[in-house]
Amino acid sequence: MLILGIETSCDETAAAIVKDGREVLSNVVFSQIQKHQEWGGVIPEIASRLHLEKILPIIKSSLDEAKVSMQEIDAIAVSSKPGLVGSLLIGVNAAKTLAWIHKKPIIPINHLFGHICANYIDSDLEPPFVCLLASGGHTQIIKVPNFTEIEIIGETIDDAAGEAFDKVARLMDLPYPGGPHLDKLAQTAFESVKEDNNAANSLCKEIRNKYKLPIAKVKGYDFSFSGLKTAVLRLKEKIAQDEWEQNKAQIAHAFQHCVAETFKQKISAAMEESNIHKLVIAGGVAANSEMRKVFKAHFTEDQLCFPGLKYCTDNAAMIASAGYFAKADAIEPDESNLDFEVLARV
Ligand code: KG4
Ligand code: ZN
Repeated sequence: MLILGIETSCDETAAAIVKDGREVLSNVVFSQIQKHQEWGGVIPEIASRLHLEKILPIIKSSLDEAKVSMQEIDAIAVSSKPGLVGSLLIGVNAAKTLAWIHKKPIIPINHLFGHICANYIDSDLEPPFVCLLASGGHTQIIKVPNFTEIEIIGETIDDAAGEAFDKVARLMDLPYPGGPHLDKLAQTAFESVKEDNNAANSLCKEIRNKYKLPIAKVKGYDFSFSGLKTAVLRLKEKIAQDEWEQNKAQIAHAFQHCVAETFKQKISAAMEESNIHKLVIAGGVAANSEMRKVFKAHFTEDQLCFPGLKYCTDNAAMIASAGYFAKADAIEPDESNLDFEVLARV
């Protein structure tokens, strides 16, 4: 089954063709980041206009790259929530128009479910598993008992993890979105011990002792990251400007290690209590190198599943994959239900 996926929930205009939910034939992403960077965040009005400019050429490229025609597509899957309403509308209207003209079934997709399904791509992963979804807008622990259901068992009570990364990165004068820049900066603290694991571990401990950052105590499987972000701000105010400038990479490391450690503790408890021993990571923050390192050291290879880096951040392959797994058994060839709306929140 060939599914055309369309994603415009935030600042990426994306289209992809995926076969049987797991095999990506094309995955085209236009990132608007450069256009939003000068404002230090996504401007919804600019995002919608750029989606409108790019959506048709991007869909066309996805078909061309996959060497398939609209006639060969079995269904169209599109992100319909959550996200920026003006942005979602562009993708959803493009999808509805194509579905109507070509008489194709259309499958509205919860973008967060899409992030989970990124893990099915190029893998033979099957539920049940526990999923950590950490993106710019969401931080959740989700139980995934089967291909179609999800149960959120914990979430952030304030900032999302990606938001905390972006805010701390801003304190460090890094460009928006700060997560990947902070990650790269933190890695430079380890350049002198690159080939030596023991030395790297000692340096990691030394840095965490020097720049102690708090792990928030929150009930159950919920998280809080706003205290951690404020702790970095207080540290910046407390230490001399020279020390801040010279040791930014170390402080970035202390911060991202603290986030990774928080996740590790909560998820281990969630897996233990739900008696599910497979862990899947999703969302933009899943690209974080320290999180990957901490998790790889704590969980076994069989327990842990990370999506490929390009499927962590927003893309349409994950939406096409979600379309397949949400509806694989249920798509009627003439099902063209165009009667659904976009939603800012789930
Ligand atoms: O899932 P995503 O692409 O978009 C949303 O749906 O939010 O996630 C974007 C978030 C941003 O906050 C970005 O800074 C963060 O993911 N991010 C990272 C890394 N790459 C992206 N955070 C930490 N380390 C990274 N390597
Ligand atoms: Zn996302």
